Amino acid sequence: MTVTLRSDFLWGAATAAHQIEGNNTNADFWAAEHAGLPHIKEPSGDACDSYHRYRTDIRLLAEAGLKAYRFSVEWARIEPERGLVSRAQLLHYRDMIDACHEYGVEPIVTLHHFTSPRWFAQAGGFTGPEGVELFSRYVAAVAPILHDVNWVVTINEPNILALFALMSGARDAGDSGDAADSGEAESPTVAMSQMPTPSLAFAARIGEVHRAAVAILRETTRAKVGWAIAAQAFTPTPGNEAVFERVFHAWEGAYYEASEGDDFVGLQAYTSQPVDANGPVPHPPHPDNSLSGWAYRPDALGLNVRRVWERYGLPVFVTENGISTDDDTRRIAYTRAALQGLHDAVAAGAEVYGYTHWSLLDNYEWGSFVPTFGLIAVDRAGDFERTPKPSLAWLGRVAASNGDDLG
Ligand code: FCB
Repeated sequence: MTVTLRSDFLWGAATAAHQIEGNNTNADFWAAEHAGLPHIKEPSGDACDSYHRYRTDIRLLAEAGLKAYRFSVEWARIEPERGLVSRAQLLHYRDMIDACHEYGVEPIVTLHHFTSPRWFAQAGGFTGPEGVELFSRYVAAVAPILHDVNWVVTINEPNILALFALMSGARDAGDSGDAADSGEAESPTVAMSQMPTPSLAFAARIGEVHRAAVAILRETTRAKVGWAIAAQAFTPTPGNEAVFERVFHAWEGAYYEASEGDDFVGLQAYTSQPVDANGPVPHPPHPDNSLSGWAYRPDALGLNVRRVWERYGLPVFVTENGISTDDDTRRIAYTRAALQGLHDAVAAGAEVYGYTHWSLLDNYEWGSFVPTFGLIAVDRAGDFERTPKPSLAWLGRVAASNGDDLG
């Protein structure tokens, strides 16, 4: 049985400013890239030069038949120094919105996708004393260019930002971590999941930041507003349901609770992890793992959408889903299976507004260009020429059938 998706279902692809624009030199992550950190294998440099080539990117997306482009505006460019708002940068992003409209593409604008201006990080970031106020001021500065935008994501993956905060040692705002809650060790380096547990104190603070941003956007725009959560599709191993609940709450539940009252919640799904007595079980090495080292689990998407619908009744926008692989037929196979799972979740009652594939371009994956998630390849060593992969046309055909024909 084919389940029909909403007739206005939005099919598209996603990117983030720092990963594609290049030379985002005023951002905290750029500074981190040049600080000799062990997990940074190479710097972002020119990335895909999309700061200059965004019209080409949007045109290729539109020509393939996709109708939505999720991208982010870069705070480090818009407010390069505290209180100094660049008109020229705001107009740059306004031109991206105009380019989307010219090509018949719905812009989905993310206001914060992992990177902050250096001055904000130095002032303590989101958990610093002025975290809420400084982000609110930035949101208010951007709002005027969003007057005719229908979809805004305030913050990308606040639950992963929580890990960034832990790993950079920024455990401030009275945050002593939730090691006792989670049963995990305090130090990120010895956490059993190989990743620390996001702290509930961080969740509370970033929730405040989000709510303040939503209030401003509600007053100043007509957009549907939400944020985008990294959904882990954790599953309990037998007998470990209580551990699973604790892990799920720290990683995701606290963030879905803070989404209450939003127009949608963005879900970003890639893989699934079992939870045993010790917490999330790391992905063992396996030939099927993606270039990111993640288990091949296209069912993660349906599992997450269904769970969020059943537990919270929240309408969903799939703001990211995809796979890092150098074999494009595998990308198509993964995405086909993921979309089948999405259909099943919709059949079970979930309300889903759209799907933006991660990613439009082979981009900078936070330390390395090796994990290629793109529907389009980029010649970064040459003239930045874009070469669409078969998966782009495939997704365009899926979009043309509104998901009925998964090819
Ligand atoms: C998500 C991020 C995105 C990208 C994908 C692979 O966590 O939001 O920027 O790196 O993972």
